[in-house]
Amino acid sequence: MNVIILQGSPNRDGSTAIMAEEFARGARQAGHEVERVDVCALDVAPCRGCVACGYGARPCVQRDGMGPLLDKIAAADLLALATPLYYYGMTAQLKCVIDRFCSANSAISARRLDAVLLAVAWNADEWAFDALVAHYETLCRYLNMRDRGQVLGYGCGTPGMTRASAHLREAFELGASL
Ligand SMILES: Cc1cc2nc3c(=O)[nH]c(=O)nc-3n(C[C@H](O)[C@H](O)[C@H](O)COP(=O)(O)O)c2cc1C
Repeated sequence: MNVIILQGSPNRDGSTAIMAEEFARGARQAGHEVERVDVCALDVAPCRGCVACGYGARPCVQRDGMGPLLDKIAAADLLALATPLYYYGMTAQLKCVIDRFCSANSAISARRLDAVLLAVAWNADEWAFDALVAHYETLCRYLNMRDRGQVLGYGCGTPGMTRASAHLREAFELGASL
């Protein structure tokens, strides 16, 4: 399987990246091809809402880093969304990339991708990820993706806290189970 991880934290070596790498390690061990994309390092502008793409009938009028990323997604079997919790949702940078799915909406839906959510947060309350999970599950429904699992890193506020948590093991095992 071809796995692409959209790593949505601006911290390239932060908790999200650590969790994404554990997931990748498990998936590679299970024989899958894995690529991690740090979306914050990409040159991707926000969707302009012009709908010149006709929601997938034509390419986006913006020529930036999104074109090559959509090519990678077009060749993927599983899309992993990795994000720190920012005001109880995903980061703006990851959302910016997802909004730009607009010009490839039908193609992405037609692939019937598998999907995974990897997330970390400072908060350890049981409700901490409710809004993010609702959003992710709605994206799965809308984009015709099959949820293969969610690793919710409660109390993963720093790389040290994350390394000390059981959530890295969960991420590895989810990758290895694919
Ligand atoms: C702008 C911003 C917003 C945040 N919002 C939340 C939040 O809503 N809930 C929470 O538990 N943690 C929140 N955090 C903490 C991060 O989710 C947490 O520190 C995470 O481990 C950062 O991951 P990273 O190392 O990959 O950047 C926020 C951090 C920042 C910088």
